[in-house]
Amino acid sequence: MKFTFVTLFQNIVEGYFQDSILKRAIKKDILQIEYLNPRDFSDSKHNKVDDTAVGGGAGMVMNPQPLCAALNALKSIDEDVHIIFLTPVAKPFKQRDAKRLAKKSHVAFVSGRYEGIDERVIEKYADEVFSIGDYILTGGELASLVICDSVSRNVNGVLGNSDSLSVESFETSLLEAPSFSKPKDYEGNCVPSEYLKGNHSRIRSLKLVLSEYKTKFFRPEQFIKYNCTSAMGFLPKETKR
Ligand code: ADE
Repeated sequence: MKFTFVTLFQNIVEGYFQDSILKRAIKKDILQIEYLNPRDFSDSKHNKVDDTAVGGGAGMVMNPQPLCAALNALKSIDEDVHIIFLTPVAKPFKQRDAKRLAKKSHVAFVSGRYEGIDERVIEKYADEVFSIGDYILTGGELASLVICDSVSRNVNGVLGNSDSLSVESFETSLLEAPSFSKPKDYEGNCVPSEYLKGNHSRIRSLKLVLSEYKTKFFRPEQFIKYNCTSAMGFLPKETKR
């Protein structure tokens, strides 16, 4: 799968792929990463990419010309590229979007800086527009990396162990149960004893209870959606409430 980052700040993005899981996926050619700088497409004398907002307002807005030229170039190479704009004024990105986008062959992320992107560019080129949360970042680069990361781990072959996808938070309506590593006793704090006894059906049951508690505490609105009664049937007697 290919990702193209349309950004004025390639350096911000590049570093993320230089270690760990995504680095390995790039090395194996499961993922390809490319960059396009709108400044290289500017037809102004000093490669200008932004200007003051028409109608007033603080800050600079990214001009249509360099961005449109960059996106035209991108589409002329791959007409199937799926173009995503990042802005706080958009639908929230969800895990189900990550799974859906992982089936695309080529996704491009267009990151705005300054006060944003001329709306006409978004209208013309956006296949989708996403926000990663109700807060304002200084640009779309971090948002595009967040989305790229969560899409990538749903691409076949990127994660070593595909099992780790199926039990993750947001794959079901419950948050994932807590995980523990060794030692079993760390400075007097012990791993739950059930985790140590090797009875996998009982461990699964306990994890379900812990998932329910976590979801209820951290995401009460999500817990309401969860059909608690159907899950209760799987609980062992001593944990039934
Ligand atoms: N650009 C600035 N803030 C953003 C956000 N919250 N999500 C996506 N893009 C952004």
